[in-house]
Amino acid sequence: MIVNLTSILKDARLGKYAIGSFNVYSYETIKGVIESAIKLNKPTIVAFGERYLENMDFDSVYATVNALGKNTNTPIALHLDHCKSFEHIVQAIRAGFTSVMYDGSNLSFEENIKETKKIVSIAHSVNVSVEAELGGISLGDRSNEEEREQIYTDPNEAEIFVKETGVDALAVSIGTVHGMYKGEPKIDIGVLKSIASRIDIPLVLHGGSGTPENIIKECIRNGICKINVNTEISAYTVDKIKEALRSDKDYHLSKISILEIEYIKEVVEKYMNMFYS
Ligand code: 13P
Repeated sequence: MIVNLTSILKDARLGKYAIGSFNVYSYETIKGVIESAIKLNKPTIVAFGERYLENMDFDSVYATVNALGKNTNTPIALHLDHCKSFEHIVQAIRAGFTSVMYDGSNLSFEENIKETKKIVSIAHSVNVSVEAELGGISLGDRSNEEEREQIYTDPNEAEIFVKETGVDALAVSIGTVHGMYKGEPKIDIGVLKSIASRIDIPLVLHGGSGTPENIIKECIRNGICKINVNTEISAYTVDKIKEALRSDKDYHLSKISILEIEYIKEVVEKYMNMFYS
């Protein structure tokens, strides 16, 4: 069942758990995420970023998610991850996405407010929720995201930003990175606490891959309701497929597809169990 993001995030904030947002870009990734959600019966976010438009278009993503998710009662939100283009946001909404992330974090604070407000007014008119981002998240290993300077979110700015824009969820930078950590994570829970004390909308943690379980749990206790995971699903699956291909077995491509889905599910289910426990 495809649902709006806001309702499942509100429940998560009240229930002190987080909903996993897992990046997809192929039939295998979508099937892996949705089968895990159905198996564990956990509300889940299927996230497709505009950088993956060379892999799939919005209509194909919607059609696949709808085909695999329509006969289950497990709530599934279809979310546009990191999007800088107004046109792509409109296309995703038209295709049936129930939530969009407008990423204006590269812009000045004032420009970010101005552009985010425009997206909020369009999206809300058709009951689509909006996530925005404040601050910068740097790049770790094996990620597909772009290089950014690490800028921790300013809690005062977060408060003003949410009031001005009316966004439904805010991605905050507190020390996680996009990709696998190159050293010890430097997570500042104090910044998160300060943000959470000022605003009551659900907070989003990008850069979930490789974040230690104790830190994840502390983030959830302090207002994080949505956690994005991309790199680890890819890195783990690629490593396992490489291992399989190194063996003497002569695999048919269809079997590789099935193996891929199994490896994707292992990582997705690990994180789902962590976010809900
Ligand atoms: P990771 O690649 O570090 O898991 O981060 C994913 C993410 O934040 C996607 O928006």
